[in-house]
Amino acid sequence: MTFSRTALSVLLAAGLSGAAFAQTTTLKIGYATTKESHYGVGSTAFCDEVEKGTQGRYKCQQFPSSALGGEREMIEAVQLGTQDLVNTSTGPVGNFVPEVKIVDIPFLFRDYDHARKVMDGPIGQDLLTKFPAKGLVALAWTENGFRHMTNNKRDIVKPADAAGLKMRTMENKVHMDGYKTFGILPTPMAFPELFGALQQGTVDGQENPIPVILSSKFSQVQKHLSLTGHVYSPALLIISPRIWNKLNDADKKVFLEAAKKGSAAQRKKVNEDENNGIAQLEKDGMTVTRKVDSNAFREALKPAYVGYAKEFGADNIKKIQDIR
Ligand code: PAF
Repeated sequence: MTFSRTALSVLLAAGLSGAAFAQTTTLKIGYATTKESHYGVGSTAFCDEVEKGTQGRYKCQQFPSSALGGEREMIEAVQLGTQDLVNTSTGPVGNFVPEVKIVDIPFLFRDYDHARKVMDGPIGQDLLTKFPAKGLVALAWTENGFRHMTNNKRDIVKPADAAGLKMRTMENKVHMDGYKTFGILPTPMAFPELFGALQQGTVDGQENPIPVILSSKFSQVQKHLSLTGHVYSPALLIISPRIWNKLNDADKKVFLEAAKKGSAAQRKKVNEDENNGIAQLEKDGMTVTRKVDSNAFREALKPAYVGYAKEFGADNIKKIQDIR
């Protein structure tokens, strides 16, 4: 922006400092679920911190509820630079950054403490360094949550109950290889198509964390919820290198700190939904199966683990499992 001498003296005479003219860059951030959901809470906390830390030079325009497309499409757009940020599960991420696939292995993590410790520790932080080579910059691990099965046919306690069910899955081969050992018929589908598919009965069920089941109102189209917790679903805040490479070091620090705060807020919302959401879903008419035979699911998975060990290395899997 340039001003003539006269214009500048008029503006200065009007008492406006240079700071008043600092341009604001509005960043487009997209995610799959509603503004009130865990992704919305995390993204809002991130955006507020960015705006505060850059004195308003950067702010966000949020696109919740898959307004910019499915997660795979949004990641592609961030890679191309037509979208600035995405808060996404790892579901499709392994197709861009293959090293990430290891954290999608079913029954890899014991609980939230274990998962968060791994993602925030050296293993998770090292995975973040793999993104720039693929045209993406990962700011922090956020969180989607442990996934549970819902369907319209029956309660699921053990794999035999899941066998034969046509279940929508994410477009994620690691998940699908595992779910096949449960006898499920995995049907990969982008999330924006899922509610309609459940409504029309194109699929019998789906699997997602409590915060997604709640915020997407799946109780309106699904009867049975089984707390299978069969896989942890990590998520990430990813920024386009087109934006990242323009930031000075101080602003980069602001974005990284903001991502940490966004992640903390998102995880807090996941905790709240885990604590209160199941009772809410019951109130909304779902039958909840709390006692699931996890050992039978783990046992069924053994052949898939042979494949995972080949692909990712048994030692690398063990390193994650051993973290306490
Ligand atoms: O099921 C999925 O595709 C994901 O869990 C979702 C809902 C898009 C959130 O990341």
